[in-house]
This record gives sequence, C-alpha cells and structure tokens, in this order.
Amino acid sequence: MQLFRASIAHFPTSTATFEDDIAIYKDGGLVVEDKKIVDVGAYDAIRDRYPLATLNDFTGKWILPGLIDSHLHFPQTQSIAHYGEQLLSWLENYTFPTEMQFADPDHADNIAKVFINQLLKNGTTTGFVFTTVHKTSSEALFNAASEIDMAIVAGKVCMDRNCPQTLQDTADTAQADCAELINTWHNNGRNRYALTPRFAPTSSDHQLAALGELATQYNDVFIQTHLSENLDEIAWVKRLFPRAEGYLDVYDNYNLVRERSVFGHGIHLTSQEWARLGETNATVAFCPTSNLFLGSGLFDLTTARAHNVHVALATDVGAGTTFNMFKTYGDAYKVSQLRNAPISPFEGFYLMTQGAAVAHQLDAEIGNLNPGSVADFIVVEPRFDELTALRIKADAAFDDVFFALGILGDDRAIEQTWISGRCCYDKKSLQ
Ligand code: GUN
Ligand code: ZN
Repeated sequence: MQLFRASIAHFPTSTATFEDDIAIYKDGGLVVEDKKIVDVGAYDAIRDRYPLATLNDFTGKWILPGLIDSHLHFPQTQSIAHYGEQLLSWLENYTFPTEMQFADPDHADNIAKVFINQLLKNGTTTGFVFTTVHKTSSEALFNAASEIDMAIVAGKVCMDRNCPQTLQDTADTAQADCAELINTWHNNGRNRYALTPRFAPTSSDHQLAALGELATQYNDVFIQTHLSENLDEIAWVKRLFPRAEGYLDVYDNYNLVRERSVFGHGIHLTSQEWARLGETNATVAFCPTSNLFLGSGLFDLTTARAHNVHVALATDVGAGTTFNMFKTYGDAYKVSQLRNAPISPFEGFYLMTQGAAVAHQLDAEIGNLNPGSVADFIVVEPRFDELTALRIKADAAFDDVFFALGILGDDRAIEQTWISGRCCYDKKSLQ
C-alpha cells in the first residue's frame, strides 16, 4: 500500500458549479493499493488511517487525476504542424498521404510507441483515438496501450469514398473488421472500442447504415467522428446528403447519435442540432488548438451549456498543435475570451478530468481520485522553470496554479504519470 503526500485537487462528482464542488487538499494524502485508489483526503487524517503505508512525499507539488484527451489521431503524430491549409485541402495534402504509410504494420507499431510516449509525457492517461483505415493500426495501438494497462478508446477509421483508393474500405469490410475488433478488444482489459466513421463526406449511406447496425448490436461501444468543423465541409455534406435535415441528422438517421457518441469540433451547429445533442446525451469534443490552427472557428461553450450538452476538451492532434492538455485549456481560454465568456480554470480542469469521464460514462474508473477508481494520476510541478517559479507562488490557490499552467505550462510541468497504480513516466529518469 502506498501513500502519496502532495497538494491534491479533483472533482469527486458530476457538477455544473465548478468552484463549489471541487475537492482541494492543500496538504493531501492519496492511498493506492495495487491498481486502485483506496482513499483520499487531508494528509493528517489519511496518515492516521494507514500508518503502515509506504510514503511517497511530493510536498510542494500537485497530484491530479490523469488527464483525458477526448479526440485525437494517432497516425497524425508524425504530420503535426504543416503550414497553410484549411480542413479539406489539409486532409488531401498532408493527412491522407501520412495515413497511407500505416498499411505497413511495423510502421504502425513504431508510431504507436511514440504516440503513447507523448501521452505519458504530457500527463494524458486516457485518449479517444482515431487510428487509420487499416485494422492493423488499431491492433498496434491497443497492443501498445495494453502493455502499460492504459485505458484507451480507439477505433479503425471507416471511409468508403472521397479519399484515395488505398485508404478505402467498403461498407461490408468495415462492418466485418469493426465486429472483429470489438470482439477482440472491447472491454478486454482497459481497452474500449469506438466505431469511427471519419466524417460524413467519406462514408456512403450504406457504410453509415452498417456502422449503425453495429452500434445497435453492441450498445456500449463508443462512436466517434467529426461534425460541423468547417463551412466548406458543411456545404459538401449538404450536397452529398440532400435529404438530411442537416449535418448531425446524417448521423442521426443511422443511430449514431446517442450516449457515448463523441463528435469532434461542432463549431457551426444550429440550435436544433444543439438541442438534439443535448437530448441524446451525446458529447462534443472542444478542440481549441486545432480549431485555431485550421482556421475552423470559435467553439461556443455557452450555447453548449445552455443545451445541456456534454463537452470534453481534446487536442485533435495532428490538426491540434500540442499533446498537452494544459496548453489546450490555455487556447480554450483564448477562444472563450474572443467570445467574451472566459472559461474558468475550474471548468477547464473539469473538462479534461471528471467532466470528460462523466460524459463518456467512465467516471467509475477514471477522471477522479475517488476510492475505487483506477489509480491513474499525475504529479505536477507547476514551478518548473525560472518564469513559472516567479509567477506561481509556492502557496498559490489551485485555480491560479491551473490557469498559469494553461498559459505557461507544457510537458515540463509533468513530473510523473501513474497508470493502474504504476509509475509509467518519470521526467527525472529522462534527465
Ligand atoms: N475531419 C475529417 N477528418 C479529419 C481529421 O483527421 N482531422 C480533423 N481536424 N478534421 C477532420
Ligand atoms: Zn479529428
């Protein structure tokens, strides 16, 4: 049994009143046994309850739940940061050529390792991940995540039109491959499967129908795709699906809008679409660095909240420009400033921990430090360099610490990343 002493912050429950419901222990204790969290609270009380536990003293640092990145692309690890395009030409010029390389399973294995390392180094302990059209790329990722018992949600990208021939599957092969991947990986260890039609333009009606059948057959799998990211994309969807009432309706017609559906972006939605997302319990992934990078637009968090839509923060690497969720909050804050409705540090923290876990119905396992949850957590040193040591006072309140990390922080603030009760990344061991 191990006892960790540090400043500790987490959201124990689902909440809409962030500053009231966060639990903060300036001198806190976290007890871990095997893979699970056993207890959390004020250090003195915890120490008394577990006198025999081995002490790991991180006084002066913060322990937070492992961070959740609710939408990103593992093959795009190698194509992050390419100049000059918006969504559709960016896909043609950079993304599709990169994803073709994943026909080679060895390449997929190699990039999966780099990808997982990037997550760990940035304190991300769960990702919602698009792989490529190749079944082997999903296998590569699930295998790499399984090695460290990481909770990963991933799926094979499905595309049967409007992309290079070598990246196309068909409705039938997609259905068969996804069924096989679900049977092999879904709920196997900490792996979970997500049906992953890339976006409406690259799937025929026939393919969306086939994936909808799987969604009905396996009703606890995740569904992930893109939605209303870019105006040219939306106009294209209108031409391709003239009978649908709108972009969301294309997915809705095939039973792909429900709880555990995660829609990337959702920047240009109508109020009917917002209402439908709310009533179906679906989630929108807010990807600020990507939305700025591709010039897609400014996400409207206020409207999402008004319609009770679950929102989770995400990097969307490689249109996203960082794997780091603190920096992702920093850009979310800037976007929200441009909309005159600044997103508070408490809310930013919620949307990458418990808020995301609640949205995905995974809060019994991740997103918090509650007894019974899996011991996925990070040790953070906010004062990691000269500037942050100057700006962030040693006794600063959590919201100030988190805000400053959002603006000034990056992977240098992540000291350790623990997954399933095991230290999987230690910054010191790299120095
Ligand atoms: N829409 C369809 N595919 C993609 C992708 O790979 N990245 C982003 N940002 N949007 C998409
Ligand atoms: Zn994406």
